[in-house]
Amino acid sequence: MSPAIKKPSGVFITLEGGEGSGKTTQARRLCDWLTTQGRKVLHTREPGGTLLAERLRSLLLDHSVETIAPETEAWLILAARRQHVDHVIKPALQQGMIVVCDRFSDSTIAYQGYGRGLDLRVLRTMNNWATGRLVPHLTLLFDVPIRIGLTRRRSQRASQNRLDRETSRFHEKVRAGFRTLAQQEPRRMVVFDASLPLESVQQNVAEVIATWLNTRRIRQLRQR
Ligand SMILES: Nc1ncnc2c1ncn2[C@@H]1O[C@H](COP(=O)(O)OP(=O)(O)O)[C@@H](O)[C@H]1O
Ligand SMILES: [Mg+2]
Repeated sequence: MSPAIKKPSGVFITLEGGEGSGKTTQARRLCDWLTTQGRKVLHTREPGGTLLAERLRSLLLDHSVETIAPETEAWLILAARRQHVDHVIKPALQQGMIVVCDRFSDSTIAYQGYGRGLDLRVLRTMNNWATGRLVPHLTLLFDVPIRIGLTRRRSQRASQNRLDRETSRFHEKVRAGFRTLAQQEPRRMVVFDASLPLESVQQNVAEVIATWLNTRRIRQLRQR
């Protein structure tokens, strides 16, 4: 097999959860910790990660643009995802890096599917289409009561983005959607109690990642 088409050897980790659940904070801390362990890490986010995808992100989060239909929202997110996968995630995985991504396909199912009511099967097909069937090796789900998450967000920034302004009912549906996904795929998705203090969540994440990476290494050694 030529090096250009060899199987990606990197690790793809995604962080998921509702607004203010601590994804961005934990992603940063996880990347710093992995880097100190001598790992090559790429920290990225969705929607975003490329020039075009970041522009789409700005449009999606801007509450001053016209009303956005759920389908339009899905198309824009998935367009951004394709760019991100092609230009950033896949190349980094090919180089053997650990890619840590703040939100990915599960957010589409939780927000546009469970939250906005779009057909889950259609969204899964669209996700496959956008990612070329790239599935994270491991997904960390940060679960927090809506009230706590939104309060954290309000204290964080003066202006609220389009999603922060959604109703509590919408956020409840998204939270329940994420939890359903975690029940369906318990091997890939690990749920963290994100209402705990920041340092406790960070420690729980580090423990899970350390064990997971070790198990993966042993499995790979056995396969040689
Ligand atoms: N476990 C936690 N306990 C208390 N505050 C937290 C915790 N995790 C994150 N925060 C704070 O909540 C705010 C939102 O966190 P952030 O990481 O941006 O969440 P998200 O990216 O999931 O929306 C930040 O001000 C952050 O410092
Ligand atoms: Mg964030």
